Amino acid sequence: MQTLQVDLGERSYPIYIGADVLRAEFLAPHIVGRQVAIVTNETVAPLYLSALERALEGYAVTSVVLPDGEAFKTWETLQLIFDGLLTARHDRRTTVIALGGGVIGDMAGFAAACYQRGVNFIQIPTTLLSQVDSSVGGKTGINHPLGKNMVGAFYQPQAVLIDTASLVTLPARELSAGLAEVIKYGLICDEPFITWLEENMQALRALDQAALTTAIERSCAAKARIVAADERESGVRATLNLGHTFGHAIETQQGYGVWLHGEAVAAGTVMALEMSVRLGWISPADRDRAIRLFLAAGLPVVPPADMTAEHFMQHMAVDKKVMDGRLRLVLLRSLGEAVVTGDFPRDVLDATLGADYAALLNSLEH
Ligand code: NAD
Ligand code: GLY
Repeated sequence: MQTLQVDLGERSYPIYIGADVLRAEFLAPHIVGRQVAIVTNETVAPLYLSALERALEGYAVTSVVLPDGEAFKTWETLQLIFDGLLTARHDRRTTVIALGGGVIGDMAGFAAACYQRGVNFIQIPTTLLSQVDSSVGGKTGINHPLGKNMVGAFYQPQAVLIDTASLVTLPARELSAGLAEVIKYGLICDEPFITWLEENMQALRALDQAALTTAIERSCAAKARIVAADERESGVRATLNLGHTFGHAIETQQGYGVWLHGEAVAAGTVMALEMSVRLGWISPADRDRAIRLFLAAGLPVVPPADMTAEHFMQHMAVDKKVMDGRLRLVLLRSLGEAVVTGDFPRDVLDATLGADYAALLNSLEH
């Protein structure tokens, strides 16, 4: 069992990583009162809810089981959490526990931030994506039909419990989606990690526990460092959004849940890499190395064929990095070094949006 720390002064919290962390000894120190509300969904509940309820013996536990899917990351679903809390008369000392992937973590965290103006919150992420990214750092929220994650709050948990064993039930496509965010850390801040991932990608996809634990620890350590430096995203934290501006446009345009978040991030990152090449910041060989890594992870690297430059621009205009009407993007200065900038010629962005990514992939394969 490994413990990392997110250093945020008096709001600092531990991240426990191991194959057997759903235990009372890790939960109890982070629960203030006697009431607990577990928020999960209809897929995760049959797998892990009873184990968690057992670990919470002695507490008054309410379990709220939500419908599964990105399409349900909405106001209406959020209301079901409040219905459950109020029906069971949870007071201000209750603890909300998110048990599930990033959709559950984001919604349960937002509910915890809002319920009675803020109650205790614990994250138990069960997808690779949520274990390496969304459960750490306190971004919570829901989607709006016009924009992904557009309504939410910064609200840090009291603890994050990462049970690596829960990944054995994760569908392969979801594991690949999580690998997109793992690769992201290498690209933005840890070039040697890219080499490690190239050497260990098959082990990761085969659910090798040692490889997964290393990848999760390294990813969480990077995220904890970045969040501690810039909790509210006024600077370096925005680099965690590499590929997300293009990716969120894909998710919104295709309909939430059609492309998985990690898949959209992978294809979106390829677009950010292509733009970095066009600006002369990275070489085509660097770009192709990253594309090969996404392919090895089982991820898409070509944006949807039906998405035009106009579609992208329409959705990118409501990105959270837009400041005073100016679009800012996360791009790479080199592999392992990301920058956030609005300082690029418009024609380079247009060329990036209009590039032929299928041809790029084809040229790579031959
Ligand atoms: P998800 O929550 O939809 O989970 C993916 C699927 O796996 C779901 O069907 C889920 O029920 C199922 N599942 C979860 N755990 C399982 C397990 N152990 N075994 C079998 N099935 C399991 O998707 P995700 O990829 O975890 O998260 C994506 C969401 O996270 C997006 O909404 C994205 O916007 C958000 N996100 C938030 C942040 C943040 O900082 N808050 C960062 C990245 C992504
Ligand atoms: N996933 C981006 C962030 O947490 O800032």
